[in-house]
Amino acid sequence: MVIRLRNITKVYRVGAERIAALNGVNLDVDRNEYVAVMGASGSGKSTLMNILGCLDRPTGGTYELDGRLTTSMGASALAHVRNERIGFVFQSFELLPRLTALKNVELPLIYARAGWFSRRARAKKAIETVGLSDRMRHRPNQLSGGQRQRVAIARALVARPAILLADEPTGNLDSRTSEEILALFNQLHRSGQTIIMVTHEPDVARHAKRIIRMKDGRVHSDLPVEEDPVSELPAPTPLAGIPLEVSA
Ligand SMILES: Nc1ncnc2c1ncn2[C@@H]1O[C@H](COP(=O)(O)OP(=O)(O)OP(=O)(O)O)[C@@H](O)[C@H]1O
Ligand SMILES: [Mg+2]
Repeated sequence: MVIRLRNITKVYRVGAERIAALNGVNLDVDRNEYVAVMGASGSGKSTLMNILGCLDRPTGGTYELDGRLTTSMGASALAHVRNERIGFVFQSFELLPRLTALKNVELPLIYARAGWFSRRARAKKAIETVGLSDRMRHRPNQLSGGQRQRVAIARALVARPAILLADEPTGNLDSRTSEEILALFNQLHRSGQTIIMVTHEPDVARHAKRIIRMKDGRVHSDLPVEEDPVSELPAPTPLAGIPLEVSA
């Protein structure tokens, strides 16, 4: 089991108010699973992802990642786990604007103190995996949205993380570009990567193998994709949402 959550709670305090964002989440995820997390706005999806990504700590409960109990770790051990075991992809890409694609991808290895030569080689390999070898020297503002997200995915993968976490990875992309990113996720899944992705779009979620639906800070349902309502939707036509080109 790569992820084991037991009775995870998260309470935020805002002034005198207490907001229970997670209310006892239990979750096991095996190596090489491909999971989509769905649920209404405010149901706790991002809170859960931030805890899985060790970007935030739960108020209660235990979280084991790869057999290690993260909830009893100190700050520096937790930072280490975050750098080495977790790849994170965000809706808004979060690339550094002044660095080339290659440098952005190298960053996690710089934090991990890898040597220059292996850093370069591994970053190039990751860029190749996402199909951007011809854009390595471009800066983020010289890339399309889909290309930026590919750079972010390469950065997430470069340290060979145990889990890839993606919070609305296609939220800022049009439907064709979203399909390209999802095709890349499928390819990563086939090559053994464990993936957990948050989305509110059924057409995105249906690419995963397992669908978890959150409600009021709890896991409301947890089903193989074939048994979840997303599989009952008509398959999207390949060109849905893409305007036809008009020749002059
Ligand atoms: N930093 C914070 N401080 C206080 N409350 C927070 C904080 N982050 C989230 N919350 C609250 O916790 C609850 C869960 O928020 P969360 O961001 O996890 O929802 P979500 O399912 O990701 O929603 P969305 O689909 O809109 O992204 C919400 O009620 C939210 O207002
Ligand atoms: Mg969210």
